[in-house]
Amino acid sequence: MLSTILYSTALLSLANAHGVILAAQGEAGSPPSVGFQVDPAIARNCTGISPCQQDTTIIRDAEINANIVNECGRTELSGNIDVGENTENALAAGAVTQVKAGTLMTVTIHQVNADGAGPYSCDLDQTSNAGIISQNLTVTNNIPGVNGLSQAKTQDFNITVAMPSNLACTGASTGNVCTVRCRNNAVAGPFGGCFAVQQTDVAATANTPNQITTAQTLAGVTAQVAENNVDLPVAVAANQQQGTTEQTQANEAVKVLLGITVTSKAAAIQTLSVENVGVNAAAASVATSSATTKSGKAGKAGKATAAAASTATTTATAKKGKNNNKRESGLKWAKRAFEESI
Ligand SMILES: *[C@@H]1O[C@H](CO)[C@@H](O)[C@H](O)[C@H]1NC(C)=O
Ligand SMILES: *[C@@H]1O[C@H](CO)[C@@H](O)[C@H](O)[C@H]1NC(C)=O
Ligand SMILES: *[C@@H]1O[C@H](CO)[C@@H](O)[C@H](O)[C@H]1NC(C)=O
Repeated sequence: MLSTILYSTALLSLANAHGVILAAQGEAGSPPSVGFQVDPAIARNCTGISPCQQDTTIIRDAEINANIVNECGRTELSGNIDVGENTENALAAGAVTQVKAGTLMTVTIHQVNADGAGPYSCDLDQTSNAGIISQNLTVTNNIPGVNGLSQAKTQDFNITVAMPSNLACTGASTGNVCTVRCRNNAVAGPFGGCFAVQQTDVAATANTPNQITTAQTLAGVTAQVAENNVDLPVAVAANQQQGTTEQTQANEAVKVLLGITVTSKAAAIQTLSVENVGVNAAAASVATSSATTKSGKAGKAGKATAAAASTATTTATAKKGKNNNKRESGLKWAKRAFEESI
């Protein structure tokens, strides 16, 4: 339903726009990244909404804060951009540029029409997909414009985006990917996009639940629950529509229009050792609120299965667990956590 709404909006509204990230080049010799959901097949020689604005990305803080979209916003045609999906697709296709701390990237932005102008600003999610913007990036050689407006149209510009000296990418299946986000400040936007970069001068992270920091607050969770209650009837209606002939045809039409192709690559199969599943499940709970720590602590002591971790709750075992946990640093747990079987 949401995508249907956005689809209709794209075709019916006279929204004018915008800017698209065609390429981001990090270290020489590595492939360029392309903006998430940007379709290389879409013509760049016109300013009209169809086809030249179809893959324009809108990234509004208000929509991000309301949890309508994630940190990378949405395109007019296909709605919320799934960062994880787009990143893995790009990795599988060998289309992620490589960077190091301090790399100066050349980011090619196509200005479709007036409000795709500069200035653009860029920032970084070092986890790739946690929605935590860790820092702003230095942009030089910016696109001309004031408040995102200029008279340029159907023109490509190269901006220079500097990777910070303390770059530490930890995300994606490879454990060394960051998401870079660039956008202008046009009132009809902001317009811009996100792309993945893979860091080569860092040890790839083996991610475990206990390393993942989240920024959820009670107020945020409560607000989300309220929002979900409002959205539920709409979602139910959408589910009832799914799979109807009308829906399937609309879906196919969108795919044809966007020329979506995805390169598939088999993922490695990893097996968590039984012992460490319990340990990690326990450690993961330590950082969260007291309401959830009990079962986690017990899990540590249980030194056993995930099932044990979620059921045992006695104080005695919880204490034992705490001591167990002090014996090793988080990194050691991480290293032992995975046993790659392929
Ligand atoms: C844009 O390019 C396409 C082919 O690449 C061409 O068919 C079309 O006429 C061009 N449009 C304009 C406005 O020049
Ligand atoms: C990035 O810059 C904006 C605007 O100056 C500021 O509000 C924000 O806090 C900065 N973000 C970080 C992570 O430093
Ligand atoms: C942008 O830089 C690339 C090289 O990274 C170059 O091929 C391209 O012509 C440049 N585009 C513009 C508009 O300067």
